[in-house]
Formats: sequence, structure tokens, C-alpha cells
Amino acid sequence: MCGIVGYIGTQAATDILISGLERLEYRGYDSAGVATVEEGQVNCVKAKGKLLKLREKLEHVVSKAQIGIGHTRWATHGKPEEHNAHPHLNSARTLAVVQNGIIENYLELKEELISNGVEFISETDTEVIPHLISQFLANSTSLLEAVQQTIAKLEGAFAIAVVSADHPYELIVARQQAPLVLGFGQGEFFCASDMTAILPHTRTILTLDNEEIAKLTPLGVEIYNFAGDRVSRFPRTLDWNPVQVEKQGFRHYMLKEIYEQPAVVRICLDNYLNPNWHADEDPDYSPINLGLSPNLTDNLEHIQILACGTSWHAALVGKYLLEQVADIPTTVDYASEFRYSPKPIIANTLTVGVTQSGETADTIAALESERARRANLEPKRQAKLIGITNRPESTIAQIVDRVIDTHAGIEIGVAATKTFIAQVMGFYFLALDLAYRRKTISNSKIGEIIAGLRHIPSQIETILDTQADAIEELAHDFTTETEDFIFIGRGINFPIALEGALKLKEISYIHAEAYPAGEMKHGPIALLDNKVPVVAVAMPGSVYEKVISNAQEAKARDARLIGVTTAMNATEAAHTFDDVLTVPEVDELISPVLAVIPLQMLSYHIAAIKGLDVDQPRNLAKSVTVE
Ligand code: G6P
Repeated sequence: MCGIVGYIGTQAATDILISGLERLEYRGYDSAGVATVEEGQVNCVKAKGKLLKLREKLEHVVSKAQIGIGHTRWATHGKPEEHNAHPHLNSARTLAVVQNGIIENYLELKEELISNGVEFISETDTEVIPHLISQFLANSTSLLEAVQQTIAKLEGAFAIAVVSADHPYELIVARQQAPLVLGFGQGEFFCASDMTAILPHTRTILTLDNEEIAKLTPLGVEIYNFAGDRVSRFPRTLDWNPVQVEKQGFRHYMLKEIYEQPAVVRICLDNYLNPNWHADEDPDYSPINLGLSPNLTDNLEHIQILACGTSWHAALVGKYLLEQVADIPTTVDYASEFRYSPKPIIANTLTVGVTQSGETADTIAALESERARRANLEPKRQAKLIGITNRPESTIAQIVDRVIDTHAGIEIGVAATKTFIAQVMGFYFLALDLAYRRKTISNSKIGEIIAGLRHIPSQIETILDTQADAIEELAHDFTTETEDFIFIGRGINFPIALEGALKLKEISYIHAEAYPAGEMKHGPIALLDNKVPVVAVAMPGSVYEKVISNAQEAKARDARLIGVTTAMNATEAAHTFDDVLTVPEVDELISPVLAVIPLQMLSYHIAAIKGLDVDQPRNLAKSVTVE
């Protein structure tokens, strides 16, 4: 992952770089650095830890440099120490490089450079780049050419930015798989891993394509492909506002984002439900408005969903809906697994990529390879791809035929909350759209489900209003001695147990596992005693009694039992559970979007009481742009 940013123009570069890095910090935060060029010198400042540390170091540095690059790191090669932080320099300290990605053949290149007498300072893969550029510059006066020659030697997925003291009016950037956007201002130009870093300065943006290299000077931008041909491209002007990144009075972004969920669901409902649809009306007027063309949806025999992390959990809820509501066999794969062991090709398959960032390297690669391997097949075996994403301008949009925008707004907390809910909403719409087209359930059943969806925002508000204090109080019991948690659920709520466990692991560092409740007795029950709390997602419906029985089995092994269930069941549940987290009465099919809320809040409060860094947990990053 990592975030890179670059600036060339008329303003002081350091401030722009630091404010850009602040907006990229979600991509990694174990160290950061900037390099600027001024008076024939490269000035490089780096610090281990959060960006704040770099900021402190720069406080007393006065720099008028108008060109520079910056980086915020998520360590891949080499520990998070200052000497491994970017930018990396050549031996003469005349040029600096930042990189996002992985140079896969760096060891080979490093050995070659060492045998030529080069001394390395870091353990990173990136450091080979400035040394290689430097070697090529010995025989060339063109920085662009030297970077081109260097790139020809690099294998892997990467985005780089380069500045040089000997070429003080040039910023060279290149992209191979990892994202990179350019920003166009008045006599100033920007580059960044994500346009959010650039948007405060300009909304005129150009996304660099794979295998493109660009030279930014105070006078303009030249773009070339890796073969060296000049490429003509027009930037586009975005119509959105700089992203809202304030905490608005909440202690953490994650808490704010949990509270934004009712609004997010409302926006999704407004965007994708046709307001004038009635169950008994015109059969050609769909209740859902996803804009999917018939060639994507007709004659489907199979849906395969590819995703990572929390998006994979949303995909599992989606699978349940697509199979039970739209009657289409559906598989869900981790994109990181699928890309190296794709499933045998099934005709008339719709492939759905789910990624809030739209940039997760494995998800992007899996979708690209799916398109490529089906490209020359007969029409019914060719790829039909859609993406469910919160970033419709991201890389996934360039690969798929259609994007379902989840409209959740920027999510800053590394642990996904509102984007998960929005992805699940996307699957309700997709399943209903397909069910309507295929007539797998009656219009009146569709109408009932839609009525249920419309209640979600106020029901989430009820949970937030009535449960917050009780959940915070409960959280205190698990902040000192609890080392393990088990989450159980079944059917459509098994993915919610998985998501509850993931949230807890991510931000509280408490080990948590989720199991389908019926599987507990095949092994995990051996772990239970009075030190391992069990959270049971027990929503009324087809498997409610089964979950309660499985919970009883845990209770018989002395586990403290926490139940997530509906208010009407609370009295009955009080006989089973030691603690009950209640949600409003809801149909089983809709219940995941309510059941997940108390689990998000429980994880949040445990982590917050422990005093942990809720929004930027250790070792994690929001957008995983490396394999
Ligand atoms: C990282 C984030 C998770 C996220 C996962 C997939 O691990 O920390 O919150 O679920 O990546 O990200 P995506 O952007 O593809 O949904």
C-alpha cells in the first residue's frame, strides 16, 4: 500500500506534501518522509511512526522549495525504521524516489548494484531505484530517459515519483499496476496515490494508465507509454467537493462512521429504489434502478464474487441473498486465492468484484485475470463484470462493465463499518433486481422486502439511541483479561459473526474467531471455558432455535454468553444469555444490517477503553495495494 504524493509549482512544496500525506495516511502509517529540491540540493527528512513525528521534525525547517515528493509507508520489505522510510536517495544524494508497491526482482538488482560498488542504507526493495536511475544518468542528460531505462529493469506492481537536484524543474512519475493520479492547477502540478490528496488544490485530474510515465514541469505535463511514445490525454474535472474529513465532535472517525450508517442506507435507498414502483403494476417497470444492461443479467447460470477482508463478508451476505432470493448459484472467493487458482469456467457467469477502495491489489488482479482468461471464448463464456465500490473513480471502474456505487462517503477509520453496510445494501438491490427480472419471487414478496429495507435507517438509529450506553458498559468487562472471543451465527448471519470477530481483532487486538454455530461441536467448543466469551448472533428466523441450542452448548461449558437478538425475544433470550444486545424486530432476510451494529459498537468501545488507536490500528492499512 503506502501513499505517495508529489508537487511542482509556485508554492512552498513541503506544506502541500504534508497536507497531502495527511489525506493518504490511511494507506500506511509506520513511517513517513519528504524530499524537496532547493538550491541544487535534495533535502530529505524522514521519521519513524505516524506523520505527526515527521511534522514535528519539520517544524523548525524553513524551506522555500517548490518541488518535492512525500511518502507514508506500510512496511513490506524492511522493518518500520527511519532508515527504511521513503524517500530513498542515490549514493550522491542528488536524487530521491518514493514508491508504492513491490519491486519483485529487487534482490537480483541489489546484488548487481552491490557488485558495482553501491552501498545500501535500507532493507527496502525501493532503494534499488535511485541507484539504478543514478547509473543510467551517468550516460544521459535526461532524467525521464534514465527513469524509463530503470523501469525497464523493474518487475512487480509499483507507482513511483522521482526528483533530482540536477533536474530541479522536473518531477517524473510512473505507474505499473499501483494507482497514481495527476492534478492540474494554475502553474502547478500534483501527483498522488489517491485523488483525495490533491482535491483541496484542484479538481482537474488525470488518472495515469498502467505502463505510463509522466514528466511534470512548471510549464505542463508530458505523458509517455513505457515504450517511449508520447500519449495524448485530456484531464477531467471532478464535480465533487473536497472530502469531508473532520471528526465532527466524535472521539474517533470509526465512531462517527458507525453513526453515519442510517444516512448511508437512506442515500442507497434513494439512489437505487424506484420510488413509484408498486407490486401490482407494469411488469416491465423494475423496482430497482442499478442500470444493469440485459447483456449482464440475462440467462445467468452462476455468479462468482471476488473480494478481500470486510468486503468478503459483505459478499457472503450477498451469496445468501443471490441464492435464496434470486435463485442463482453463487460462489464467493478471496480474490487473493482466486487469482492463483481460478475456478473452472462456467458459461453465463456474472463476476462481481467487491472493494470499498476500488484499489485492493488482489481484487483488481483477480478481476483483470478473469476478463483476460475469458476474452477469446464463445460469447456466453466471456466475462461479464460488475464492481461494488465506494470509489467509482478508482481502478476497478476501468476493469468492470458497470459499477454499483455504494455512496457511503469517504471512510477514514481503517476498520470498515459504513462501507460494509453500503456493500450489503448493494447486494440487496442486485438480488432484488435479478429476482424481479427472473421472476423467482412474487412482486408482493419483493414489495415486502423493499418495505423492510426502508425501515433500516430508523432501526439503526434505534440501536444507536438505545444500546450505546449498555454496550459501552459491557465493553469494560473485556478490556483487561480477555484474550479470546468466539462469535457464532448461522445462515445469513454467519457472515455477521465473521465481521464481528474481524472488527474485534482489528482494533482491540483480542483474538477472535467466528464459526457457523452448528460447527462449534466439531472442534472449537474445546476452547471454551469461563475465560472465553461467546457472542451469538441469534436473530429470529429459520435457524433461531438452532443458534439458541448451540449457544446453550457453549453455556454448559461455562462460557459467558452475549446474545444479539431482537427486542421481542429479549425476555426469552435473557434465560439463555448473560448479556443481551437488542435490535428492533426485523425479518430474517434483513437482519444482518441490524445485527452487525452492536458488534461494531462492542469492538469500538473495547478498543477505545483500552486506549488503542482505533482509527489506525497497528500493522493495518485501509487500502491494500500490494499483494
Ligand atoms: C484492508 C482494510 C479492510 C478492508 C480490506 C479490503 O484490509 O483494512 O477494512 O475490508 O482491506 O478492502 P477493499 O477496499 O477491497 O474493500
